[in-house]
Amino acid sequence: MCGIIGYRGTGKGPAIVIQGLKKLEYRGYDSWGIAVKSKDRIKVRKETGQIGAAKGLDATGDGSTAIGHTRWATHGNVSRENAHPHMSTDNKIAVVHNGIIDNYQELKTRLANYKFVSQTDTEVIPLLIKENMDKGHDFTTAVRLALNDLDGTFAIVAMHEDYDQMICAKKGSPLVIGVGDNEFFVASDSPAFVEHTRDAIILKDNDMAVIRDNIGIMNYVTGEDVQRDISRIDYSVEDAGKGDYEHFMLKEIHEQPDVVNRTIQGRISKKRTLLPEVDIDMKKVKRIVMVGCGTAYYACLVGEYMIESISGIRVETEYASEFRYRKPLVDRDTLVIAVTQSGETADTLAAIQEAKRKKAKTLSVVNVVGSSIARESDQVVYTRAGPEIGVASTKAFTSQLCVLYLLANMFAGKDPGKIASVGKLIGKILKDEKRIMEIADQYHLKNNFLYLGRGINFPIALEGALKLKEISYIHAEGQSAAEMKHGPIALIDNQMPCVFIAPKDSTYSKIVGNIEEVKARGGSVIAIATQGDEQMKKLADDVIFVPKEADEMLQPLLTVIPLQIIAYYIANYRNCEIDKPRNLAKSVTVE
Ligand code: AGP
Repeated sequence: MCGIIGYRGTGKGPAIVIQGLKKLEYRGYDSWGIAVKSKDRIKVRKETGQIGAAKGLDATGDGSTAIGHTRWATHGNVSRENAHPHMSTDNKIAVVHNGIIDNYQELKTRLANYKFVSQTDTEVIPLLIKENMDKGHDFTTAVRLALNDLDGTFAIVAMHEDYDQMICAKKGSPLVIGVGDNEFFVASDSPAFVEHTRDAIILKDNDMAVIRDNIGIMNYVTGEDVQRDISRIDYSVEDAGKGDYEHFMLKEIHEQPDVVNRTIQGRISKKRTLLPEVDIDMKKVKRIVMVGCGTAYYACLVGEYMIESISGIRVETEYASEFRYRKPLVDRDTLVIAVTQSGETADTLAAIQEAKRKKAKTLSVVNVVGSSIARESDQVVYTRAGPEIGVASTKAFTSQLCVLYLLANMFAGKDPGKIASVGKLIGKILKDEKRIMEIADQYHLKNNFLYLGRGINFPIALEGALKLKEISYIHAEGQSAAEMKHGPIALIDNQMPCVFIAPKDSTYSKIVGNIEEVKARGGSVIAIATQGDEQMKKLADDVIFVPKEADEMLQPLLTVIPLQIIAYYIANYRNCEIDKPRNLAKSVTVE
């Protein structure tokens, strides 16, 4: 996600801020910008692309107050206009922001007499502050009033040309203040300043800090002063980027509760799903064809169950690479949905282009804003998972399932409210990580695995097998558990562990039968089961529990989590190169 850095002190603000932005590059970005207060003016520079490619950076002045931002686009394409800092119309106020303002459309309407120059949600913040100052409020009060008008999540840093101070605040997005000798740093993450100081104040939600030669912190809702202790940062600069994690993949597995909440944020209400970016007359859609590759293809298979079960619309799922070569029978009555993390997968892009040639409607579910597939599709829903660095997809997959569940409910005009608790339920599974790691240790020397599931968990068996094979190089095969007796059961022996996805659902009794068939032939069974399932405890060799989820269509968001963790730890025990597995690329831009 976006990176923020602010500096106020006696040093060279621009150089410190640029250096800090480089330390935040691991968060992924597609544009960046800096605002510097030198003498009595604010100078701004904004670019697309990487900071390293920029020329003449040291000419950005030597002001003592500067703010910077690396943008991972969520609203509005990649462009200079959409890059931060965003300015008030008189260019006196500069703001950088990380998060999502849910009510930005409503605020844009209220601020209609101010000229907007970007497509972003963030731009409402400097204009709200200006509106308050035009009413006679000073800068600090104007910022505090503006913050109380924002719904959603934000970490912001703001400065004003006429005020010798920097103001920062947070709600729902991280923000930490570095306390140096006569200097202060504000950042999304402490790697941005840890080389300068390890003394830090971790701001809490609703905190607003006013930084001059000293620092004052208040609760911007109540206006009351608050005390925050200074803590000591206890990690080295080198470990920065992955935070406390050894690999990006494990960090991204643990990000999933926040990612799921961010993906659905502002998109569900008591009455219906709010996907304003989707405007399709479903009465004109006779069937849906879903296309994707790899993990994204498995997300399509899960989405097929969701959309058919919730909306009753016929869905077929195709490998994108197959779709484009089979002269697909699609036409203007067909909606083709492409699912892709990168938005650059050549086969998926070609499938969308083929669908358009045949006059089908196209909608893509994409993580990278402004990517080729997003631009090629008639409509796009962004998954907001943030940059996924690990080649093995985890948080992008769960965010895709969230969007497909929202789409299914929107097509059906139903209330998707149950999805609101999924983030918390994933968090509960992550607490069991140590026990899952111990199970992985028992099996990490095996050379073959079978992954088996039924119904909506059959695609999860396919995904679990893919996770294992792509990072541990172990041969793993996903299968419909019902298909076992049609051949795969010949493989069962004590050297072929079977991972069964076996939650209490409509296929449970059949899965129990399949597990008994494996046990009767000396096979070992790892079961992913519903919390409290005593029968499974007796039947399987090892059981990993997931919380009970009454809505069968949401279960895959839970059952996939233990499979990600098992794959990660087996690969780690085998000393594999987890974030960059051999032969693989994060985005397959060739056919
Ligand atoms: C998944 O872990 C793999 N990295 C791979 O299968 C990936 O899902 C596939 O290449 C599709 O990529 P996309 O989502 O960027 O289109």
